Amino acid sequence: MVSIATRLGGFSFDNCLMNAAGVWCMTKEELAAVKDSVAGTFVTKTATLDYRAGNPEPRYQNVPLGSINSMGLPNQGLAYYLDYLLELQETEPNRTFVLSLVGMSPDETHEILRRVEASDFNGLIELNLSCPNVPGKPQIAYDFETTETILHEVFSYFTKPLGIKLPPYFDIVHFDQAAAIFNKFPLKFVNCVNSIGNGLYIEDEQVVIKPKNGFGGIGGEYIKPTALANVHAFYQRLKPEIQIIGTGGVLTGRDAFEHILCGASMVQIGTTLQKEGLAAFERITEELQAIMAEKGYEKIEDFRGKLRYMD
Ligand code: DHB
Repeated sequence: MVSIATRLGGFSFDNCLMNAAGVWCMTKEELAAVKDSVAGTFVTKTATLDYRAGNPEPRYQNVPLGSINSMGLPNQGLAYYLDYLLELQETEPNRTFVLSLVGMSPDETHEILRRVEASDFNGLIELNLSCPNVPGKPQIAYDFETTETILHEVFSYFTKPLGIKLPPYFDIVHFDQAAAIFNKFPLKFVNCVNSIGNGLYIEDEQVVIKPKNGFGGIGGEYIKPTALANVHAFYQRLKPEIQIIGTGGVLTGRDAFEHILCGASMVQIGTTLQKEGLAAFERITEELQAIMAEKGYEKIEDFRGKLRYMD
């Protein structure tokens, strides 16, 4: 029997597929639906300290090869997600879920993380260093100095299992520099990749989303090669204690298989989940299991990271 169970940050999951932050995760109802699907776990919408309405609509659009969005970090605020996660710790004590968060400033990020540290939350935490859509706020992870400073400060007080969500990088030197920084810290995982930031999609001579004159993060089929490159680049460079979550361009079981082949221990589904709904988890689970069965792989460790190069 083929298993797609996995481990991440010391926790076990019976399915290596889950949602990507931003999709099916804004409310408790959506999170509960992902939890009760075949997905291994869920991640919340990235939480800020307080509720945010986000950017004006339309701010998300499906397009033929993927999606474009400039949501602007709409979310219910930290307490909402933390309360729900604490509730689940009582009702589903054998499962582990993921809290995504970031502050609107470094001070707010620390305030949020201190609250999580002080709480009874015992799951995984994903610090989002790659939100591309808040006007006037550059992505943290494209500024290596700021990234290192924040991580240094965080790990002076934060002891719970923490990983980071990264934007795509596009240069080998940047992979080297970023990995050298991440290897200095006791991170449990890096999640590669967030959307390719600030693309532009045009229809009938007009942009398709309202914020930022149409500029937005690109997801879906467009981004798989970039996502796989980032997963594998960090798999090659990071110390083995830092695991990889693969996100980007997962439409089929084959795409999930390729993320795992590049080194991913968990695979997240964003645009495809938005387009297809929760049925995507079942379909991609079955497709991935069929590929593994055909190749004689019984578990994901049989092929994880085993991408072959040419001589
Ligand atoms: C938003 C988009 C992102 O890609 C992200 O990582 C966080 C927030 C947003 O626009 O809401």
